[in-house]
Amino acid sequence: MTHPAGKSFVVAVVGATGAVGREMLRTLEQRNFPVSRVVALASKRSAGKVLAFGKSEIVVSELGPQSFAGVDFALFSAGASVSREYGPIAAKAGAIVIDNSSAWRMDPEVPLVVPEVNMDAAKHRPKGIIANPNCSTIQMVVALKPLHDAAHIKHIVVSTYQATSGKGHAAVEDLLAQARAVLDGKPVTPSVFPGQMAFNVMSDWKTGEMDYSEEELKMVNETRKIMGDDSIGVSPTTVRVPVVNGHSEAVFVQFHEPMTAEKAKHLLRNAEGVVLMDEPYAPGKHPQPAQASGTDPVYVGRVRDDLAVKGAINMFVVADNLRKGAALNAVQIAERLI
Ligand code: A2P
Repeated sequence: MTHPAGKSFVVAVVGATGAVGREMLRTLEQRNFPVSRVVALASKRSAGKVLAFGKSEIVVSELGPQSFAGVDFALFSAGASVSREYGPIAAKAGAIVIDNSSAWRMDPEVPLVVPEVNMDAAKHRPKGIIANPNCSTIQMVVALKPLHDAAHIKHIVVSTYQATSGKGHAAVEDLLAQARAVLDGKPVTPSVFPGQMAFNVMSDWKTGEMDYSEEELKMVNETRKIMGDDSIGVSPTTVRVPVVNGHSEAVFVQFHEPMTAEKAKHLLRNAEGVVLMDEPYAPGKHPQPAQASGTDPVYVGRVRDDLAVKGAINMFVVADNLRKGAALNAVQIAERLI
């Protein structure tokens, strides 16, 4: 991308060696974000490590209070405690902080932004911080926004099928090592997951409230905040599946005004950021994480009228959780701010 004024920006990526951080670097490079310099930051462990940025290489520095001098955009993905400590430091140094952790998402003074849904919210950022929502929430609201605008959502029932990359680089390594062990008939010794992840499904999130996981409550609270509508009911069940990358979601949606699967398909066909896959059973023609991985859109398919609740629909929503669910969403926010 060429900035109209020919301007370019200093961009820091905090957590540059992690699963999302690496994707942030790739996304900045692939989208030709107008960078004059990229600052790759991680823990002391990674200082001196060399990362690829397109055809060039960048050396990782240890994150510290002085890391943000001259930085225009600071993209954070190094966990909530790092964001809580260094987000305000980066903002004070003059950077616009776009934070992928959960640290600031529900702070009333921090906008929670999905560009296709509520980019206007990013204008008001008294703390200099913009939060990137949870990966499962992002792909769901991109698919729901055009439907909400047309018929006002009353209730969402969502079950997720979440990939291991959402838990970080080490979690993917754990899945692959476990799969090798199972195939070789050896005992499984988990290093990141709380048990066997290979050839299994589990709920591996922290407990939230009322027996809901933190991940489930994020989907409730973040959906309402992004859509700007606290009346939306969200009934979530989040599940981890042995997929490397790409989250899937089965979503039931009930509306205040009339809706049909046909009308929803029409709306989704024209929706920003969405690819409607309208051949429910043709091989490779319905949304699948293996195909979505490495790509930008939110894929929506299997759009059906509900059999029991008149005016409600069911659909299947798939996206690359590291891209639209994290890195791409953050870079898109930055793109729209320049
Ligand atoms: P490092 O590789 O040096 O540990 P993932 O989500 O894939 O596990 O990645 C987490 C990212 O956050 C990594 O880049 C990791 O750096 C970084 N990170 C974790 N803790 C800190 C910290 N205390 N300070 C700076 N970066 C951190």
